[in-house]
Amino acid sequence: MKALLLDGKEVSARLKEKVAVQVDRLKENGIYPRLVVILVGDDPASAVYVRNKARTSEKLGIQSETITLKSTINEEELLAYIAKLNRDDTVHGILVQLPLPQHINAEKIIEAISPDKDVDCFHPRNVGLLMLGKPYLLPCTPAGIVEIFKYYKIETSGKHVVILGRSNIVGKPMANMLVQKAAHANATVTLAHSRTKNIKALCRQADILIAAIGKAEFVTADMVNGDAVVIDVGINRVEAPDAPRGYKLSGDVDFVSVSEKAAAITPVPGGVGPMTIAMLMQNTVTAAKHLSNFREKDKTEK
Ligand SMILES: NC(=O)c1ccc[n+]([C@@H]2O[C@H](COP(=O)([O-])OP(=O)(O)OC[C@H]3O[C@@H](n4cnc5c(N)ncnc54)[C@H](OP(=O)(O)O)[C@@H]3O)[C@@H](O)[C@H]2O)c1
Repeated sequence: MKALLLDGKEVSARLKEKVAVQVDRLKENGIYPRLVVILVGDDPASAVYVRNKARTSEKLGIQSETITLKSTINEEELLAYIAKLNRDDTVHGILVQLPLPQHINAEKIIEAISPDKDVDCFHPRNVGLLMLGKPYLLPCTPAGIVEIFKYYKIETSGKHVVILGRSNIVGKPMANMLVQKAAHANATVTLAHSRTKNIKALCRQADILIAAIGKAEFVTADMVNGDAVVIDVGINRVEAPDAPRGYKLSGDVDFVSVSEKAAAITPVPGGVGPMTIAMLMQNTVTAAKHLSNFREKDKTEK
């Protein structure tokens, strides 16, 4: 393999160590960070994500609770749960696992979560702050990708970043972060989507290519240049009769061919995925500090 492997497990482990230190410091001050995750329905992939979030919380000393609700719950009932968690001073982070059943308006639910506790960073207030370059909480997946850049000293300033996918969860907040006039940003960003023309030629111009479209192995070797850093956000279940569960996880990038050509690449699994959870933990701690007016002691203070 030619490309440098960008190991999300390793970077997330370092990040989680830093989160655990902050959790300890909060606890010494009587603050117990607490994350509540709401899971509606029985989507198997969502259940796996929620379980992983709970496990990681517990490992880092963050109290975690999962509220599992039937898919038949109506919007008013779900809003009532959120209102209760908003009022509860012991809760610092609230996350409603998406997707929600069709009969529930996800936008309305997201907007009902207190922006102070919005650890997914989906609330319009937090999205606006991010866009203005004054973020409070950070969008987990894009912020996790920036952490990978920091760890491997991948320069973004002046670089052409092509992002495939314009979702509110990945593509748009990623573009917002990278265009800021700030450290680990200052990039020239092209945001591509399903209506973009000449996508292959565009991808070849990328210094950094970020694929977040949900199409298994969409990015092939002929779409990247030899100096490119390739970040694969996609998590796709692909049928694999020989695999124990009958499927395997595949990214949006054809790892086998692209890793022979690009300069660096994230694997799936073990790339962006672990970073997303680590950032969620950091956001929970940030929210706990904010909600309890906790200020880290200045290192120069005695
Ligand atoms: N690793 C992680 O932690 C993590 C986190 C979140 C998501 N994911 C994964 O990342 C992938 C994307 O997730 P998402 O929530 O951002 O997806 P999404 O909401 O489904 O959005 C997909 C985006 O890709 C674009 N697109 C679809 N087909 C395309 C094509 N052939 N060419 C160019 N653009 C195309 C769509 O364009 P239009 O806007 O024109 O429809 C849309 O903007 C999924 O596999 C998801 O599971 C991973």
